Amino acid sequence: MKFKNLKEINHPLIVHKLSLLRNKETGRKEFKELIDEIAMLMTYELTRDLPLTEVEIETPLEKTKCKQIIDLQVVLVPILRAGMGMVDGILRIVPFAKIGHIGLYRDHKTLQPVSYYFKIPPLQENHLFILIDPMLATGGSASFAADVLKQNGVKNIKFLNLISAPEGVEKFNEKHSDIDIYTCALDRELNDKGYILPGLGDAGDRLYGTV
Ligand code: PRP
Ligand code: URA
Repeated sequence: MKFKNLKEINHPLIVHKLSLLRNKETGRKEFKELIDEIAMLMTYELTRDLPLTEVEIETPLEKTKCKQIIDLQVVLVPILRAGMGMVDGILRIVPFAKIGHIGLYRDHKTLQPVSYYFKIPPLQENHLFILIDPMLATGGSASFAADVLKQNGVKNIKFLNLISAPEGVEKFNEKHSDIDIYTCALDRELNDKGYILPGLGDAGDRLYGTV
């Protein structure tokens, strides 16, 4: 594998759903449902090593010891807009997660990220921040978002996306090779407008009907 921190999740259900997502005939309702389903399945992999703490609970029959995820603050940080599309699916299996937001858009001419919003919950010592954006294209947005999180004291970050371009992983890794990237697919390349090939088109436009 060319990129050590790139974890390509190729579970058959994810691969199948991603092919439906890429299809230009897939309409907005199905597109959103697929994004949620894939995000949920990927979160299952991403959270594989979360720490568990022993607790005592009472079943209807007796007291018993069980394990729960209680000593870790989990924060989802979608990059607006398209990252928001993945949050519902993730919350289905991590309902205790808090949510921060980073507002960025790519300037269409320069392809540089323009920042317009940032808010995260107060940091706890033991935390996991999951940065979320379906597309890692030039890498400018994700790299900027990781910069801002680190500047705000966040130490433990994982990045969850759907499709990565090699150019984007390289750019991200210039500063953030310490952050694992969970992706469904490493695609071929970017076109001259900074879109991923073969990709799935403009994720925000397909989610929100702004094409
Ligand atoms: C898309 C996408 C990423 C960014 C990726 O957002 O959701 O945030 O582009 O491109 P990059 O890796 O080259 O930075 P966009 O800027 O189109 O904003 P939107 O989500 O508001 O549509
Ligand atoms: N943003 C998208 O939504 N799609 C791309 O292919 C590149 C950036």
